[in-house]
Amino acid sequence: MAAKFYKRNKSFMEKIGLFYAPLNGSVERIAYKLVNYWKSADFDLRVIDEHTTVADIEPYKKIVFGISTVGRHKWDSRYTQVGWDYFMHKLGNAKFDNTTIAIFGLGDHITYAETFVDAMGELGRVLQKTTARLVGQVDHNQFDEFSNIESHGVINGKYPGLPLDEDYLSHLSDERVIAWIETIKPFFEE
Ligand SMILES: Cc1cc2nc3c(=O)[nH]c(=O)nc-3n(C[C@H](O)[C@H](O)[C@H](O)COP(=O)(O)O)c2cc1C
Repeated sequence: MAAKFYKRNKSFMEKIGLFYAPLNGSVERIAYKLVNYWKSADFDLRVIDEHTTVADIEPYKKIVFGISTVGRHKWDSRYTQVGWDYFMHKLGNAKFDNTTIAIFGLGDHITYAETFVDAMGELGRVLQKTTARLVGQVDHNQFDEFSNIESHGVINGKYPGLPLDEDYLSHLSDERVIAWIETIKPFFEE
């Protein structure tokens, strides 16, 4: 009888905070896929905007970030448009003790090969300097289409999260999201 109290139960698990930007694009579409395919967890889905602060994310000990690259100069620029441009620099001050984080990043590996998923790379670098446990890195050569790319999106032979290309490879996104969930699940549901 006692065993049932130890059985993993969705209602007992802490919610995963899925923070993403921008609204209404590929990142949001992938965020919804992730939530739909990851049936054993509950999510708070939050859009990052100019008002988002570290206080909004610090209560979560399990976090997924969704980001796209739309011009490499932008994340630290005053010419800001999307939430990440406001939020990236705030993350360095976040308290991420005992916090597990995974990232997915949207890009276009044909038109922007030299800067493919640069923003995800930048986010990975920022998070590596914090105490967060970053999980879900993807080997540089795991996906054939992305294995020859030499961009800021790659850190020491790995993408810091799941790279996706909804512009040219949208037919592969579902299977890659599903497989990625399986690799990070143990860290999120432990
Ligand atoms: C103006 C512009 C610049 C872009 N620059 C890059 C880039 O430097 N690297 C990259 O991988 N993708 C780049 N992309 C492609 C986007 O990242 C891709 O279309 C992505 O799916 C957009 O997701 P979102 O609509 O959620 O922002 C660019 C797209 C646009 C429109």
